Amino acid sequence: MTNTNTNTAAYIDANKGRFIQELTSFLTIPSISAQPEHQSHIQQAAQFVKERLLAAGSDEAYLIETKSNPLVYGEKIIDPKLPTVLVYGHYDVQPPEPFELWTSEPFEPVIKHNHIFARGASDDKGQLYIHIKALEAMLARQQLPCNIKFLIEGEEEVGSDALTHYLQDANNHPLLQADVVLISDTGIVSTEQPSIDISLRGITGLEITLTGPNRDLHSGSYGGAVSNPIHALCKIIALLHNEDHQVTIPGFYDNIAELTTAQREQLNNIPFDLEAYQQSLGIAQAVGEKGYTTLERIGIRPTLDVNGIWGGYTGVGTKTIIPSKAHAKITLRLVPGQDPNKILDNLSDYLTSLTPEGTRIKVEKSSQAHQSVQINEDTIAFQAAKNAFQDIWGKKPVSTRVGGSIPIVSTFKEHLGLDTILMGFGLDTDNIHSPNENFSLIHFERGIQTVIAFYHHLAGLSK
Ligand code: BES
Ligand code: MN
Ligand code: MN
Repeated sequence: MTNTNTNTAAYIDANKGRFIQELTSFLTIPSISAQPEHQSHIQQAAQFVKERLLAAGSDEAYLIETKSNPLVYGEKIIDPKLPTVLVYGHYDVQPPEPFELWTSEPFEPVIKHNHIFARGASDDKGQLYIHIKALEAMLARQQLPCNIKFLIEGEEEVGSDALTHYLQDANNHPLLQADVVLISDTGIVSTEQPSIDISLRGITGLEITLTGPNRDLHSGSYGGAVSNPIHALCKIIALLHNEDHQVTIPGFYDNIAELTTAQREQLNNIPFDLEAYQQSLGIAQAVGEKGYTTLERIGIRPTLDVNGIWGGYTGVGTKTIIPSKAHAKITLRLVPGQDPNKILDNLSDYLTSLTPEGTRIKVEKSSQAHQSVQINEDTIAFQAAKNAFQDIWGKKPVSTRVGGSIPIVSTFKEHLGLDTILMGFGLDTDNIHSPNENFSLIHFERGIQTVIAFYHHLAGLSK
């Protein structure tokens, strides 16, 4: 460890308790972007981020209003000749439901076994807070080696529409000029094995409504004579995959960039225990596309999933009806080579062609489509990230591929020409999007140190 790192490490150690208290306050704000009734909490979380950026020593920090949730911008510019890093993160969180499966309240953080439990602990408030405290520690010890800009949004969990629009407007580009984007919103293999992500899947989605008769009907008086839209919907969904678990949308696999044998080997060499994976999920067998390993199915193959399905009567007791309508939400994870808009158009046509007689289908695209991302490993910033993990975790990081999506990353490249470093500190056991979300406080502390080490290596390598 360098002197610089030891010096800031001492500051972090001395102030750790306060850092965790502050994170706890952040986690008490139910900033759920999917639920409109939480709009005031969205505003509150944005204000919180702004105030903490100022308290950490930013030159300025302010909200940027949008049609939906505000962006938070902050910066500390020390010397235009030094590299500038644009830190991105999100202050919104997923809905906490189902409440009954939480062992403590989702917005009343508790610390157990050195993990902090709350919605957003790992995704993404805990990881975002790492960056604010890294700035504070570097400024407190007069050891900031780079310029830093922060761009924090409040609707990543619902598709980043406002930020996408913001980046599409060239008038906003000068403010965000930087050398690289830095994001902590993904995971790490384990506390013993550091890793850096080299790809993210893209995402797109739609909602479908099947309509049969113009109103709910008595299933005795009409049963057998008219089409039931729930049956029609189930039939359609069943046809979206074949026996080999491939997606049947025409053209779905066209133009997908195949990995080289070496890249595939590298992917499969990541420490991964299939037995433990199955056991931890309570399933007898992992299931997916024929011809690919579990890590490949998650990391490099595109998928389609039905996220929700509803219709008819689901209350207590019996209600003998043929429902008028049935609904489903569908999302797709995309990989390099696939064009999200083309895939969505093909899916829409395909769904219409599969719709059985006696029902009508309505297809609504849910939000913006987002491309997959490939990280360029051949950059100074990627080398700086590798060095930082080596310094703080004592081991060379492996390269990993993320099955999830961070919608805005491909847009940073498209509109600002910026590469991204995905410096994630989450674990599979963090339960993101699930009850009992938590974040390791060891990872919180090491995360701060790793980010600081990254800035020093980036400045050193850029000379
Ligand atoms: N932080 C996650 C992305 C992620 C998931 C990283 C799993 C590593 C492992 C992000 O907040 C997220 O959940 N993204 C959504 C985007 C969607 C709502 C448009 C996703 O992937 O579902
Ligand atoms: Mn996230
Ligand atoms: Mn998320």
